[in-house]
Amino acid sequence: MTKTARHFINLPDIGAEALKGILKQAHALKAEKFTPPQIFEGLSLAMVFDKRSTRTRISFEVAMKQLGGHTIVLNMEEMQISGAESIEDTGAVLSRFVDGVMIRMSDHKAMEELARHTTIPVINGMTNQSHPCQIMADIMTIEEKLGGIQGKKIAWMGDYNNVCKTFVQAAPLFDFDLAISCPEDLYAASVAPQEAARDADVIVTDTWVSMGQEGKAIEKFMPYQVNADLMARAKDTAIFMHCMPVHQDEEVSQEVLKSPACVIYDEAENRLHAQKAILAWCFEGAGVRLQKLAGF
Ligand code: CP
Ligand code: NVA
Repeated sequence: MTKTARHFINLPDIGAEALKGILKQAHALKAEKFTPPQIFEGLSLAMVFDKRSTRTRISFEVAMKQLGGHTIVLNMEEMQISGAESIEDTGAVLSRFVDGVMIRMSDHKAMEELARHTTIPVINGMTNQSHPCQIMADIMTIEEKLGGIQGKKIAWMGDYNNVCKTFVQAAPLFDFDLAISCPEDLYAASVAPQEAARDADVIVTDTWVSMGQEGKAIEKFMPYQVNADLMARAKDTAIFMHCMPVHQDEEVSQEVLKSPACVIYDEAENRLHAQKAILAWCFEGAGVRLQKLAGF
């Protein structure tokens, strides 16, 4: 019997129980960092990009290799799909060569279409609509730093973008409060930055100019800059997060970046541990026999 591939594209499609299980495993894998089990031996992951990447590319590549697997990195512009080849044929052929595909593809619907034409897992490495792997690492970081995420207040500042929209999807799944402060023409239910920050456990932001939006005016975002004044309104224990890359003194001040509240490098490192657990969940769903891991 052919199993349906477990895609990691939309957090709500995966569901709270599976997502929490993946994070539990991510924490366990982080603890096993120096003696990684070779659970991906013999498995290959294609990594396809239509945009720049540092963290996503490196964390997936290292995740596969530390657990015994292989990767093939492809620039989408150099693939036939950028010419006349159909998504259907691309998906069918990838399925014959590799065991999974992690893809950064601007067009979210096209990624979902690719998934409909593959028999292997498709992992969302970011679209213009969402960045679920980032949010998994962010939640892992919040759990690590604050002891849990349920009931916590997370304040999002700045652009109403792909990362913010994925926090919106994650909030009901992980039961946290999300206060969004963005220009109102982008998000009608926005609250003032000071109100969003008040008693927050986490203040999070992202670039005001996502990839593909180069040349966009940024003046209207200035009131949403995360600076010491805004951080002072949050809890004393509050942390500052950012998926990176950072634009210093635009969306966040240098002072906040240098403060003890700033956990962005731990957040970036957790991409690696979260990626391993996401891959394990996808491969296990595809019928690949994985040895039992602690905490899974
Ligand atoms: N945060 C993130 O996805 O970084 P990259 O664009 O470097 O992959
Ligand atoms: N919102 C940003 C995230 C980069 C990781 C972008 O889409 O470029």
